[in-house]
Amino acid sequence: MPRYTALMRVLGIESSCDETGVALYDSGAATMVHALHSQVDLHSAYGGVVPELASRDHVRHLLPLIQEVLQRACCAPDQIDAVAVTAGPGLAGALLVGCGVAVALGYALRKPVVAVHHLEGHLLSPLLADPAPEFPFVCLLVSGGHTQLLHVRAPGQYELLGETLDDAAGEAFDKTAQMLGLGYPGGPEVSRMAQFGIPGALSLPRPMLDSGTLDMSFSGLKTAVLTAVRRAGNLCEQARADIAREFVDAAVEVLTAKALLALGRTGLSQLVVAGGVGANVQLRAALQQAVAARGGRVYYPPPALCTDNGAMIAYAGFVRLTLRARAAPAAAAVPIRVRPRWDLCDLDGP
Ligand code: KG4
Ligand code: ZN
Repeated sequence: MPRYTALMRVLGIESSCDETGVALYDSGAATMVHALHSQVDLHSAYGGVVPELASRDHVRHLLPLIQEVLQRACCAPDQIDAVAVTAGPGLAGALLVGCGVAVALGYALRKPVVAVHHLEGHLLSPLLADPAPEFPFVCLLVSGGHTQLLHVRAPGQYELLGETLDDAAGEAFDKTAQMLGLGYPGGPEVSRMAQFGIPGALSLPRPMLDSGTLDMSFSGLKTAVLTAVRRAGNLCEQARADIAREFVDAAVEVLTAKALLALGRTGLSQLVVAGGVGANVQLRAALQQAVAARGGRVYYPPPALCTDNGAMIAYAGFVRLTLRARAAPAAAAVPIRVRPRWDLCDLDGP
């Protein structure tokens, strides 16, 4: 797992949306202790994340989680070498909770605090798996807010190859779940229900499948699900399963075709899949088969690190600190700024 030699204990904090995640990465021992509090139950009654409730819940859980992780890692607070925190993109109030705690800890312990881009955390998380990919690779980043294909040359060197022009794939999963009367978050529910659906029982569009570009679109697919739901009227269990099946088939077909196109265009053979939708079993099976057929290989984060967590932030923070130390050993600390909107290709140096 460790490809950088610096010995460091990095505390990672994630609070950008509806999971409070904390982790301690010890690069010397190559160990990661992490703990997570999910807000799913809190938001499920509303069918989606309520930002103010998310912030308050992060306030409630962050400090106890930090204490738990340090205790489990047998690490006293002053043995931490640095604090890494998600500074964006995400919900402003939720990010402020994590950043506020991280800055206070850094000040009290006189340790550096490093701002981590949430998507860089996802993108580097497959490096924590065994086997891990080698640079360069193509990354398919599929989360609740983003759907992007990136050419990853090295840590910090990301070229956007294509992205969704409207909704993220995860958002389409969540909205489809809502329309089918399934719970929140919708991705796992839609995926489970699709397993009982009859393939091809109805036909939904594959937006931009043959566009010849690496851009994608999922809002038309979402609208087509709405039309199918309305047309079906009173939805019996089988009809719901059929719609879920066709939706999953359509989304997976588009994502797989675009990922293959990205591999072809870059001439690379390794595909890294990161973000919550990467946990989808149908997508995994399709990518595995398609990429293997062209002699390539697909990599994922360890299963527990597919959705939001503190471990990916601790690791990305460690990588950033190592790069920064190499580039400018005596550089002054960079102030932490919350960035609810933040382009992954716009990271400030190492
Ligand atoms: O990466 P993530 O945990 O949070 C963001 O950064 O957005 O991704 C959350 C998204 C949600 O839209 C959720 O429905 C989706 O990932 N998701 C899935 C599955 N597990 C989570 N989508 C499809 N199939 C799954 N098994
Ligand atoms: Zn995420």
